[in-house]
Amino acid sequence: MRQIWISKSGPPEVLVVKEAPDPKPAAGEIRIRVEASGVNFADVMGRLGLYPDLPRIPVVPGYEVAGRVDAVGGGVDASWIGRDVFASTRFGGYADVVCVAEAQVFPRPSSMSAEQGAAIPVNYMTAWQLVVAMGGLKAGETVLIHSAGGGVGIAATQIAKHIGAKVIGTASAGKHAELSALGVDHLIDYRTEDFEARARQITGGRGVELILDAVGGDSLKKGYRLLAPTGRLGVFGASSAATNKSGGYLGTVSMLANTPWVQFNPLSLMNANKGVFGVNLGHMWGEFDRLRGWMDELMRLWESGAVKPKIARVFKFDEAAAAHHFIQDRKNIGKVLLAP
Ligand SMILES: NC(=O)c1ccc[n+]([C@@H]2O[C@H](COP(=O)([O-])OP(=O)(O)OC[C@H]3O[C@@H](n4cnc5c(N)ncnc54)[C@H](OP(=O)(O)O)[C@@H]3O)[C@@H](O)[C@H]2O)c1
Repeated sequence: MRQIWISKSGPPEVLVVKEAPDPKPAAGEIRIRVEASGVNFADVMGRLGLYPDLPRIPVVPGYEVAGRVDAVGGGVDASWIGRDVFASTRFGGYADVVCVAEAQVFPRPSSMSAEQGAAIPVNYMTAWQLVVAMGGLKAGETVLIHSAGGGVGIAATQIAKHIGAKVIGTASAGKHAELSALGVDHLIDYRTEDFEARARQITGGRGVELILDAVGGDSLKKGYRLLAPTGRLGVFGASSAATNKSGGYLGTVSMLANTPWVQFNPLSLMNANKGVFGVNLGHMWGEFDRLRGWMDELMRLWESGAVKPKIARVFKFDEAAAAHHFIQDRKNIGKVLLAP
């Protein structure tokens, strides 16, 4: 098999393809011949040495794949063999063969391509946890989605529109026309405009009921102020720490220095009728039954057409460095994938 390794922390070029013997599925595992692997911002942070959950480098990153089952381990029904699937992987997904626990594998309907399947697990389960499970978004409410053009941003927009909410998105200006067409009601170029002032203007001064923020730092300060009474701020990342392509801790220091550690205190939350919550899908492995329940709901939305992953671009394995450049250059509208 071929795997893409983070050989050391540094620029995208530290990603290298290596050959290894095909793995054998252990008891309870399913082996998948991979046709597409998802790239996530967490992989970029991991490559930069800024992602504490990543196992020690050198490592094969990757949280999700889609392809076809070609072998099963002991205790797994042989009828899986030959089926098209998509799956969550706990690292190791940047590979053309992976073995994963049966519980992490989902059958892929004939209407879903491998590319679409590989774009679902991380983006849509994270979005579901943020918008539905913890954000409790209701019809008629307004949600502000940062990085609206990213994989999670587009997934969250689709779920929010299905609920009947209004969506304000922040994104680089070049993405606005396409994001409007994808259902975002109002777009803010946060690089040239103050998103807090613009969102307040859009909502007639009221503010918003839900914010999804994976930027971190100063953005959280403004977001907390922008919440309307009963508003919830969902914190799920720190992309503002990724200030360059080679790593280093300057961005992290600045992000931490700008984080509103004191503003979110119990008295302020109570008196302002606001909530702050956090989401880290990578810490939900112990809750996989619940995640499967969310996936059942997402698959119903797939059938209805409400869930429709947008693929930004597919890179070949030996173009993995270009895939990471593409994301860090903020060029993606939707999901970036790797194909063997
Ligand atoms: N906690 C969790 O469970 C979880 C799960 C999935 C993702 N996340 C987080 O959610 C965020 C989005 O993830 P994703 O996979 O959807 O990302 P993505 O699709 O790769 O989105 C990348 C986009 O983020 C925006 N961005 C903001 N700050 C950036 C920076 N410093 N460098 C480069 N791009 C930046 C850029 O768009 P614009 O320039 O248009 O803003 C860029 O195109 C990330 O912070 C990620 O770590 C968290």
